[in-house]
Amino acid sequence: MSEAGIGDAAGGMARKYSARICRAAVNADAARLHARSRLPRIAFDFIDGGVGREACLARNIQAFDRVRLMPRGLVDVSRRSLKKRILGFEFDLPFGIAPMGMCGLAGPGADRLIAREAKRRNVPWCVSSAASISLEDARAEAGRNVWFQLYVGSDTSQALSLLARAKAAGYETLVLTVDVPVLSRRDREVARGYGVPVRVGLRQLADFALHPLWSAKALVRGIPRPGNYDVGPGGYDRDAPRAGADWDFLDWLRAEWPGKLVVKGVLCSEIAVRAKDAGADAVCVSNHGGRQLDAAPAALDALPEIRKAVGPDYPLLMDSGVRHGEDVLRALALGADCVLLGRPILYAIGAGGEAGLAFFLDGFAEGVSSALAQLGLRDINDVGEEVLAR
Ligand code: FNR
Repeated sequence: MSEAGIGDAAGGMARKYSARICRAAVNADAARLHARSRLPRIAFDFIDGGVGREACLARNIQAFDRVRLMPRGLVDVSRRSLKKRILGFEFDLPFGIAPMGMCGLAGPGADRLIAREAKRRNVPWCVSSAASISLEDARAEAGRNVWFQLYVGSDTSQALSLLARAKAAGYETLVLTVDVPVLSRRDREVARGYGVPVRVGLRQLADFALHPLWSAKALVRGIPRPGNYDVGPGGYDRDAPRAGADWDFLDWLRAEWPGKLVVKGVLCSEIAVRAKDAGADAVCVSNHGGRQLDAAPAALDALPEIRKAVGPDYPLLMDSGVRHGEDVLRALALGADCVLLGRPILYAIGAGGEAGLAFFLDGFAEGVSSALAQLGLRDINDVGEEVLAR
């Protein structure tokens, strides 16, 4: 068994962090609170918000709290491995980073910070087609650790051009997001006047003035913009329907894309099986972090039935609600092979920039490793439903 214990798995034990970073990014909850006070409301609410009454957002997190794992002692767990094989990659940790548009709002150069951490820790990062970095730059920064996430508008021409660029840039894995047929109304975004590009009126100026640190950096580096598109007439329109990804498109894409293909945003077993039958190499069980349908089930709750339907060997990713290291083991116990982190990554950057992200990821990885030990296991690949406390 290869080694990836706490220190080297986290990749940062040798690093020293300031007392401020230790407080601000000690876990996702602390990072969220610190990001909340440091970021302008328009940026924080874009990151933090969900659809409707945000019940789905809360449900995702509560679902994790309900899953109990049984501690088991009397095993020498001093050496542990967190390595995971998935989609032809061998990663050092059983989690990666979910695609997120406009990460730059969390802090300047956020996408590059994420890229470097993904590479350094050898975890997957899905760069969004709506990211504030170009897909070429993302690939140059993260190498093989970056996968490309695609949205497909009703007019497929933009998606086809991104696909050609992703191929040319050497991407091996494509993530097709299918849970945004139309962008849902998120009331916090509406209340703050959020849009792409970010419009700067009186309301936003007042917001920026109250957050001078963020604003000074934005003055120097510019307010983040999409990295892959021109914004404006004929260019990127965030509000345009993204319903071009239908079953016919998936068939076409499967024939066209030579690399691995992941379908992201699935909550129902019938769709998962159909995606598998259409040739998808993996499905990502997700409700977009509660940003699309407030009545949707928690992604974690949807996982066991999907695992049962697709069979034991089919690769399943999951995201939505993962906040602590133990959550990774909960998701793995219910059928996931690997989980993705969304908002916590941006909270950590908002709370403490580069050091905040690194310290948060150290702690998160340590949480996974330590929880594995509590279960009396040495290898993350041994986590299955047997670890559940029934
Ligand atoms: C997202 N998500 C997302 N998903 C996707 O496929 N493409 C995208 O561009 C985005 N953009 C995006 C922006 C922001 C600010 C957030 C918070 C989320 C959804 C994301 O990939 C993932 O599914 C959720 O974030 C997971 O939920 P948690 O971990 O944030 O609760």
